[in-house]
Amino acid sequence: MTERSLVLVKPDGVQRLLVGRVIARFEDRGLRLVGLKLVHVDRDFAERHYAVHREQPFFAGLVAFITSGPLVAMALEGPNAISVVRAMVGATRPWESAPGTIRGDFALEVGQNLIHASDGPETAAAELALWFPEGTLSYPREIDRWVLGPAS
Ligand code: RTP
Ligand code: MG
Repeated sequence: MTERSLVLVKPDGVQRLLVGRVIARFEDRGLRLVGLKLVHVDRDFAERHYAVHREQPFFAGLVAFITSGPLVAMALEGPNAISVVRAMVGATRPWESAPGTIRGDFALEVGQNLIHASDGPETAAAELALWFPEGTLSYPREIDRWVLGPAS
């Protein structure tokens, strides 16, 4: 099933000059970029994004981190995009992330784990509405018949 997922390259990824390499991984996989922006969010916005973690002891630190500098928000589309992207991102705790995943290749600490990705269809819909209230794009790509098959 075609899905859309919200991905953030967090402020550590921007500061470490990893934006292009992270986007390239998703492009290489064949996922379609349907939204992309560089933003520096405020505390209110960050608290809405991470509302499910409000009661967690790490919440204040997480909000401080995500508001500490610009980040890149993107919307990615493709078959099973939500689980495909999560698998590419790797486990939350980078020391448990498999090599070959983004966190497994680029991160060491849970607080600086470089990337966020939607974890299910409901959160993806809510996060895309939050980060891309203007909506995302739809457009055909010449390569789609090679990536997605002749019926695409
Ligand atoms: P994300 O939401 O950022 O994609 O990460 P995730 O689904 O893999 O992990 P989640 O459980 O949703 O946690 C959100 C973010 O909170 C930070 N965290 N810190 N100090 C801690 O024990 C701790 N646990 C989680 C991480 O930055 C994590 O990505
Ligand atoms: Mg999460």
